[in-house]
Amino acid sequence: MNKVAEYFQTMDYAPAPEGSAEARAWLAKHAAGFGHFIGGAWVGAGRDDAFESIDPATATPLARVATGRVEDVDAAVQAARKALVPWQALGGAARARHLYALARMVQRHGRLLAVVESLDNGKPIRESRDIDVPLVARHFYHHAGWARLQEREFADHVPVGVVGQVIPWNFPLLMLAWKIAPALALGNTVVLKPAEYTSLTALLFAELAAAAGLPAGVLNIVTGDGTTGAALVEHPGVDKIAFTGSTEVGRAIRERTAGSGKALTLELGGKSPFIVFDDADLDAAIEGVVDAIWFNQGQVCCAGSRLLVQEGVEARFVDKLKRRMATLRVGAPLDKSIDMGAIVAPAQLERIRALVATAEAEGGSVYQADTVCPTGGCFYPPTLITGVHAAATVVREEIFGPVLVSSTFRTPDEAVLLANNSRYGLSASVWSESIGLALDIAPKLVAGVVWVNATNLFDAAVGFGGMRESGFGREGGREGCFEYLKPKAWTGLKPREPRPVLPTEDDTPAGFESPGIDRTAKLYIGGKQVRPDGNHSLVVRAPDGRVVGEVGAGNRKDIRNAVAAARGAEGWSRASTHQRAQVLYYLAENLAAREREFAERITVQTGLSAKAARAEVAAAIDRVFAYGAWADKYEGRIHQPPLRGVALALHEPLGVVGVICPPEAPLLAFVSLVAPLVAMGNRVVAIPSETAPLAATDLYQVLDTSDVPDGVINIVTGASLALARTLAEHDDVDGLWAFGAAELSTLVERASVGNLKRTLVDHGRAIDWHSAAAAEGALLLRHAVQVKNVWIPYGE
Ligand code: NAI
Repeated sequence: MNKVAEYFQTMDYAPAPEGSAEARAWLAKHAAGFGHFIGGAWVGAGRDDAFESIDPATATPLARVATGRVEDVDAAVQAARKALVPWQALGGAARARHLYALARMVQRHGRLLAVVESLDNGKPIRESRDIDVPLVARHFYHHAGWARLQEREFADHVPVGVVGQVIPWNFPLLMLAWKIAPALALGNTVVLKPAEYTSLTALLFAELAAAAGLPAGVLNIVTGDGTTGAALVEHPGVDKIAFTGSTEVGRAIRERTAGSGKALTLELGGKSPFIVFDDADLDAAIEGVVDAIWFNQGQVCCAGSRLLVQEGVEARFVDKLKRRMATLRVGAPLDKSIDMGAIVAPAQLERIRALVATAEAEGGSVYQADTVCPTGGCFYPPTLITGVHAAATVVREEIFGPVLVSSTFRTPDEAVLLANNSRYGLSASVWSESIGLALDIAPKLVAGVVWVNATNLFDAAVGFGGMRESGFGREGGREGCFEYLKPKAWTGLKPREPRPVLPTEDDTPAGFESPGIDRTAKLYIGGKQVRPDGNHSLVVRAPDGRVVGEVGAGNRKDIRNAVAAARGAEGWSRASTHQRAQVLYYLAENLAAREREFAERITVQTGLSAKAARAEVAAAIDRVFAYGAWADKYEGRIHQPPLRGVALALHEPLGVVGVICPPEAPLLAFVSLVAPLVAMGNRVVAIPSETAPLAATDLYQVLDTSDVPDGVINIVTGASLALARTLAEHDDVDGLWAFGAAELSTLVERASVGNLKRTLVDHGRAIDWHSAAAAEGALLLRHAVQVKNVWIPYGE
């Protein structure tokens, strides 16, 4: 027997397992296999194509889970559709009570949920019990509040409808909550597909929710793998898809839903930087690293997996880190005193091993402390990779395991450069005792979330989501609510009437002499009028076929030049909002000075009456003024999550945005789309109305005289579809707004998958550009920015 003194010597931990009797009893109740939860009933249990859910810590089966077939997905979507009207008819206050009941239910059954989660996923019970489950409850409470306030706070929006949600296996229950709480609160109904490795807590949740009185059909769970997910994505009865998972699958979903009219949010992978400056509290930063990369075995989309340490402190920091790594305990997930549990599945373990082997092959040094891992399950020790160059595979690729890659930087500028050297943009963590430095760096990082002297903080009130290839859309907070709503003014829109086909160039009316390239309106790139690269021009005709002018026919090269000019005009994104407002007011004034001339041009090109054309110009001038007004008023928010600190929800411009203008309202639609983007600090490459481009080319002089900096607004005339494709495929374009034919929307959504641009399209529906409700204000401004949440905890 050990003497007490010996315990003091080794200070070893005794096992401290959480009891699993209740969880096992629940599993035993379902020993025959789980079905899908559809319309309030269990469907499809015990079929031949069921699969096993495995405990990754012991490699033993926990349950049999049904494979969702196309017909199951269809039944679930129909159940959700049937439940939609009554669920909406309940009203926000009654829905709030349901959400509140779900929150209470999660708290009441917290222990059971946590144990099932740890068994199924392999995560430490300490995390499922103290982090996942409390955050799940908080999410339902918070969104119960939004349901209660919906009619007042979102009065000009309506729910999206039936929502299909596909979630990953790293936070099975938490991702379920992030998806269904806002969807249900705001009057949508849901079909959710959990990840195939981890279906159990979703099924338990559905069972408990039914017992808590959630009406049948409001929440449907269909289990299965990617095939089931794809069936949900493709179901025509779904109005919106919300996905969290790998960038690869996210991209496939973007392609599959292109042109379908389905709304889409994607929360994808990351390779997030963890930046330590030499004045940081190094011991605190070490604990930060532990939370950043060894929380949940590193299977965290926003894991701080790229450590960047300032050169002067690197040796000391890495030394401290190695010592800390030696104290981390890997063990049975239900043991309350372990730091890391099991990797979710053998395939993931293999992937981690393979990537670490690549690091070695590419010349990196791999460090693992003498961590003892249990045998028989999927375990991997905490790992540190040093000595790799910036282009190494493990620096670029998401490993999704407990593997940290470390490198150094010299100056703050270099830190920003290295941090942003990634196709992802999910999160970042900045460590410095100088608040001035930290808050100078935070806005420069391309990331949807930045934690200052902290990492992996989450709250229902604070939006979460990425930039670049980490996806688009936000989950949580007010910003997340809009993802489950659509503007009332954009519902019930009619398809756009096609403009009659005009005679082609070959039948130019006799007597018309081409004005020649010199008198043709040129393109406007980088603040200069330039000839189109191909030296071709396009004839502009009145509706009756008369030729009324010529414009340059822009091509790929012109788009590339325009994008480069817009990229170069980066100063505009940093300009003060006051400055931007001034420029817009000036632009409106200068436009007003030429009101009559613009009206005449509109009449000539469109056949609009003189009165209607004057009304269009007046509305356009007013709209530019409106965005001058908005420029310094569409601001972010301060969230106050339950910690000593704040989260600043900053509105940041997307960057370079392409705009394809619709054929109609050539001046008004142009300014309605370009002005909100410019007001928010974006730089624009605009393709004017293909049929009536002269209103836009006349703007060149107005732009010149209005102090619009060179490259902020670039205009390329030409064939909309071809130019749209070039913009959509261009990797240096961050966003693309396209209004016009339905096929244009499809093309833009599909061709933008490369860098996962933020797109805004009209699916060929006609918008009344004169209506302020449909074409002005927050409705468009929301798409002109992306929210970055900067968490700033305070106190000693
Ligand atoms: P995954 O993206 O394939 O799986 C996520 C979810 O999507 C699952 O529910 C899956 O069944 C579903 N799915 C798969 N193919 C689909 C399709 N074609 N249509 C609709 N749904 C589909 O992720 P996987 O294969 O489990 O993990 C692979 C890698 O992805 C990981 O190693 C990690 O790097 C990354 N990943 C990132 C996550 C994140 O939150 N950023 C979460 C999960 C995985």
